[in-house]
Amino acid sequence: MEKNKVYLNGAYLPLCDAKISVLDRGFLFGDGVYEVIPCYKGDFFEFDAHIERLKNSLVGIKLDYARTTEQWRQLLEPLIDNTRNQYIYLHITRGVAAKRDHAFPKGITPTVFAMCNDIVTVKNRELGIKGVSLDDNRWHLCNLKSTALLANVLLKQQAMENNNSEAILIKDGYVTEGAASNLFALINGVLTTPPLTNDILPGITREVILKIAKANHIKVVEQEISMEALKKAEEIWLVSSTREILAVVELDGIKVAEGKVGQLWHTINTLFQNYKHQSNE
Ligand code: PDD
Repeated sequence: MEKNKVYLNGAYLPLCDAKISVLDRGFLFGDGVYEVIPCYKGDFFEFDAHIERLKNSLVGIKLDYARTTEQWRQLLEPLIDNTRNQYIYLHITRGVAAKRDHAFPKGITPTVFAMCNDIVTVKNRELGIKGVSLDDNRWHLCNLKSTALLANVLLKQQAMENNNSEAILIKDGYVTEGAASNLFALINGVLTTPPLTNDILPGITREVILKIAKANHIKVVEQEISMEALKKAEEIWLVSSTREILAVVELDGIKVAEGKVGQLWHTINTLFQNYKHQSNE
């Protein structure tokens, strides 16, 4: 397939020709869900898990759009350039209504959009990043991968304007996740990540890290992390499909431990890279 083709409602077409109505509920209300699926040199990473999460998000917003994993694979495959490390962005909205009305319109067809972009390699990953803690002012359904991301956007922007790479979100004194990532912390020698609740996205990278840690006898728990505990953590990481595992070496302007990427990060990062390559064989 020609480069820069995207998928929209049954057709593969150049990005500049992909147009939707201004009455699309995704545009008017953020009424939709999405997925971001890595694809390394033509091989999807954890495809089934991403599609499973998509199905849960669709159920969560009461959007009836049942497709099998195989149907999704066939739809997305033509977008991929198998010489590059890329990610698929897949976006489904409730569709185009005749007029703007909050309540679900009857009998409309969902809008389905997908595109593929190169994964931008994080420069100087070994130096780590700076993070800032901010009040988690999002809604109560953060477990759904909703396209309504304004709170996340504002939080990320606030972090970036103060020279930080990511916002670490705090709710009632406890860490939830990053604005676009999940969080792990090494606390008293135990790798710790907040448990799955409606306050966080069930991240696929988070799940892979839990699996890798357990398989390699690294002590890991899913447990709440207080802000106090986070401040004393030996290591902090932020993890996601597009940025993989990033070590936070400075939190709120204060060094995390020695202010350097920690030993466990090196270990897990190596294991993660190996896992990626193995699962693509
Ligand atoms: N976001 N939490 C939030 C709020 C996220 O937006 C993301 C990823 C994650 C990590 O999930 P995963 O490991 O499945 O990528 C956690 C994607 C990358 C995005 O919105 O672009």
